[in-house]
Amino acid sequence: DEERLKKWFIGSIDQGTTSTRFLIFDGTGTPIASHQLEFKQIYLHSGWIDHDPVEIVQTVETCIEEATKEFTKQGHSTSDIKAIGLSTQRETTVLWDIETGDLLHNAIAWPDTRTHAIVHELKNRKGADKLQDICGLPLSTYPSSVKLIWMLRNVDKVKKAYDEGRLAFGTIDTWLLFNLNGKERKLHVTDVTNASRTMFVNLHKLEYDSTVLDFFQLDPQKLKLPKIVPCSDPNAFGSMASGPLKGVKITGCLGDQSAALVGQLGFSPGMAKNTYGTGCFLLYNVGEKPVISHHGLLATVGYHFGGQRKPVYALEGSIAVAGSAVQFLRNNFKFIEASPDINDLAATVKDNGGCVFVTAFSGLFAPYWIDDAKGTIFGITQFTERGHIARATMEATCFQTKAILDAMEKDSGHKLAQLAVDGGMSNSDLCMQTQADLIGIPVDRPVMRETTSLGAAIAAGFAVDIWKEFDELKEINKEDRTIFKPQMTTGQSNGMYKRWERAVEMSKGWVD
Ligand code: G3P
Repeated sequence: DEERLKKWFIGSIDQGTTSTRFLIFDGTGTPIASHQLEFKQIYLHSGWIDHDPVEIVQTVETCIEEATKEFTKQGHSTSDIKAIGLSTQRETTVLWDIETGDLLHNAIAWPDTRTHAIVHELKNRKGADKLQDICGLPLSTYPSSVKLIWMLRNVDKVKKAYDEGRLAFGTIDTWLLFNLNGKERKLHVTDVTNASRTMFVNLHKLEYDSTVLDFFQLDPQKLKLPKIVPCSDPNAFGSMASGPLKGVKITGCLGDQSAALVGQLGFSPGMAKNTYGTGCFLLYNVGEKPVISHHGLLATVGYHFGGQRKPVYALEGSIAVAGSAVQFLRNNFKFIEASPDINDLAATVKDNGGCVFVTAFSGLFAPYWIDDAKGTIFGITQFTERGHIARATMEATCFQTKAILDAMEKDSGHKLAQLAVDGGMSNSDLCMQTQADLIGIPVDRPVMRETTSLGAAIAAGFAVDIWKEFDELKEINKEDRTIFKPQMTTGQSNGMYKRWERAVEMSKGWVD
């Protein structure tokens, strides 16, 4: 059977916040070719983050070309690639003309906070208190809805297209599927996991909700919303219109954090994963019914493989800034040459030297939801070295993960036994040891950490019957995992955490 699986290949696009990758997996879940490209973050003002949607499509196409070259060089044939999976950054909002396919503005990326005043206004609108029960998300700068409102109010072309009933809305999955299929096919589709992040969807019914659209004063006749489909489907996502994989079907599509949950094989209620990417996102499988959080977490769709299968929901703790703070030390302060060097820089000192860095570049997300927090470093003296700041940068994500796990325990009534991790910052042993120390449970890291891509490949593979049951996947990525066991005394870790909580309080209320 293993021999059979080694001859089947699945391509996987991972379109993240700061980079795009394309990996080719064989049927045993082993990546055998890959290519990655970073793309431009456009910072027009403090707190604004645009992405160029055309550049995003180009990076996807180039990554596919380069990885496929590597694949064929190894002697494989593109005809052995049975399907393609797609995972994307979520919430990032793209608007185009449904008739011509013309873009109407740059994408507003998910960590962007220009919608701050709109959010404040909406929180005071009648019905605001009902939203979270319907769509699982609190009103904040994070979801797509407020980004769309901002563009409707500030971009003439967008308003005109809306008034004329030509405004196509999409998250990155929808935009990529529209382009990869060739614009003339006019495919306008999204999967349930991405759809659940827009704030337009009723989480219980998995369809657009008229109460919510009314709340945002959006007319569904004028706004063209993509069709919502499950994450794994042989036909819904079309096929590649050009490039070396022309004709290959796209059969899986998920938001990247859902993809990582699938890639970590988090198929049973009570399983959780934490992905340290540009941001950091902890997803906890709660089973077939959504759990609305009362402690600052989000309710979201974990994954939905369609057919006879029911959707699976998750509680999510979203941290806006993780790897992006490491990139900030690299790009803006030149502390390091490459992001992975953060581990060695942090290891030059034995602790944070009294520094706490609240990396609130987008305010603070879960479980705090403080819009007006700003990035703040406390405890600097002449003693402070770059190593201390490097350490404090990684610790910021670990502290927020602890706050999220505390909230999750309150919402679910269960204490997590072990935390599965992946994503760029999880490469740092020092960071993962700190994480285990702070949360007091083991941290479990796989050797193959491209779990987001793997998850999208799994969704795609299910649609073309490479696998039929989750049980067939149980051996994937199980070997040689590293377990980081808590080593710090509780007194020590509680002391660190108390300082963090004080620092969070003090980072609030900065007026621009
Ligand atoms: O919600 C945003 C998230 O999907 C972005 O993921 O991996 O790019 O930080 P990542």
